[in-house]
Amino acid sequence: MTARTDRAFRIAPSILSADFARLGEEVAAVEAAGADLLHFDVMDNHYVPNLTVGPLVCASLRPRTKLPIDVHLMVKPVDRLVPEFARAGANLISFHPEASEHVDRTIALIRESGCKAGLAFNPATPLGFLDHTLDKLDLVLLMSVNPGFGGQQFIASVLPKIAEARGRIAKSGRDIWLEVDGGVRADNIAEIAKAGADTFVAGSAIFGAKDYAATVRDMRTRLAAS
Ligand code: DX5
Ligand code: ZN
Repeated sequence: MTARTDRAFRIAPSILSADFARLGEEVAAVEAAGADLLHFDVMDNHYVPNLTVGPLVCASLRPRTKLPIDVHLMVKPVDRLVPEFARAGANLISFHPEASEHVDRTIALIRESGCKAGLAFNPATPLGFLDHTLDKLDLVLLMSVNPGFGGQQFIASVLPKIAEARGRIAKSGRDIWLEVDGGVRADNIAEIAKAGADTFVAGSAIFGAKDYAATVRDMRTRLAAS
């Protein structure tokens, strides 16, 4: 599948790779560098073997940026955190279906809280979870690493899955974003776009670079040529 030229591409730096001692400045820096979204990774040391940040940190970043905050919940249980993140200023909230007892109820809860709803798929999680949920989703998030850590290598077997998800979205006729998360870098972003993604999470590739703006520009140039 080739990338459609009418598709908007979005770049979402993941704060997981930011300098947490200077988080406000880091967020301002990626906004100035041309980011479209701020990807906010929430890990609970239960659903994934790592521990990050919660609604308090989201709330303190909210007045520091105009970027939509794209919360990626890697937590179990999910539901009690949804209204808290909505109150903390999240714009999108995604969760993993394995972490929720009632996937449809969690999607409804996110939407009732005033946020856009996303479903997140680990590399080995089948897309069958979209069968009865796609018409209520705003975002499909495909993990291209196993969740828990930044700086891992992109799992190439996710590429056909991206194409399959794009096909399902096209068939739905709805404007659902297709986000890919894990191991996205300037040198593979075009290939990921060609498979059908339109929203790209990049943690270490952006925050690990000396010049954030040059990296975002490089990614956009490669996307435009994809
Ligand atoms: C991993 C997180 C990712 C991560 C991506 O569990 O969901 O958002 O920060 O980091 P990179 O881009 O370094 O793979
Ligand atoms: Zn993430």
